[in-house]
Amino acid sequence: MAIKFEQVNFSYPSFDGTNFSALKDINLEINEFGEFITLIGETGSGKSTLVQHMNALVRPTTGSVTIYGIKIENDTKKKGKVKLNPLRQRVGLVFQFPEYQLFEETVLKDIIFGPKNFGVSNEDAIKRAKEVIKHVGLDEEYLKRSPFNLSGGEKKRVSIAGILAMEPDILVLDEPTSGLDPKGRDDLLKLFTDIHRKLNKTVIIITHDMNTVYKYASRVLVMNDGSLVYDGKPTELFSTNNIENWNLDIPDIISITRQLEERLNIKFNSQPKTIEDLFILVKEVI
Ligand SMILES: Nc1ncnc2c1ncn2[C@@H]1O[C@H](COP(=O)(O)OP(=O)(O)OP(=O)(O)O)[C@@H](O)[C@H]1O
Ligand SMILES: [Mg+2]
Repeated sequence: MAIKFEQVNFSYPSFDGTNFSALKDINLEINEFGEFITLIGETGSGKSTLVQHMNALVRPTTGSVTIYGIKIENDTKKKGKVKLNPLRQRVGLVFQFPEYQLFEETVLKDIIFGPKNFGVSNEDAIKRAKEVIKHVGLDEEYLKRSPFNLSGGEKKRVSIAGILAMEPDILVLDEPTSGLDPKGRDDLLKLFTDIHRKLNKTVIIITHDMNTVYKYASRVLVMNDGSLVYDGKPTELFSTNNIENWNLDIPDIISITRQLEERLNIKFNSQPKTIEDLFILVKEVI
């Protein structure tokens, strides 16, 4: 088990002295290998707060998160001794807002910062930067640019490159494709599926796009008002009635299939995953 949440509660302090409870009694296990997880839920449901616990960026108010055998509790820092750096290398977290992550004067310096911090030589870090910048769909010229003068989508790609350069065991991405054009989104999702399939790494993606969930995820987690309300397969999730209660959409392919069934007054034997699968089913009945 790579990451284990046990009875995790987390509260943000408020200005008026009261606390805002953002995570409630979370129990969750994440494997190191083979999972492609999407984390969904309406705005403010606690998704970003949850993933920030996965590499000890924040500590639980109560309960514990064990990351590669190291138990993180509220007073962990005070106890000293615990080295968090290796955890941050093993669980790479790409922030929802790239501005939180980019701070160096050039893209190159930004990308090599992480690997160098974890002991990679300058030369090897530069080599990695030249590779990962291409993987995220930008050419090498970008390495010379200032990260602050890039478009939103370019900043997002650079922040992803910076985490890929650390070669983490688990890749956690907080809304990595928001604000990207459709091709950019599909290219990046292909990159994440390649990392998952070829390197057998666990990838966790926060998204509001149910098509992504349905097409790619092997497991889906749903947050609702600070609680983890679903942990299972996407196919089962979208056949439950809870979708509306949790303010989630259904994927386009499911919606089209249902409309067709209604209009043709038939019931298909299975729920297609792609439009091509749907064509095959339609051909069988007409
Ligand atoms: N720094 C903070 N201080 C106080 N409250 C916060 C802070 N960050 C987040 N919150 C609150 O905690 C709750 C969960 O926030 P979080 O960012 O985890 O939600 P989210 O599910 O990622 O939402 P989104 O889909 O909009 O990114 C929200 O109600 C939010 O207002
Ligand atoms: Mg968020």
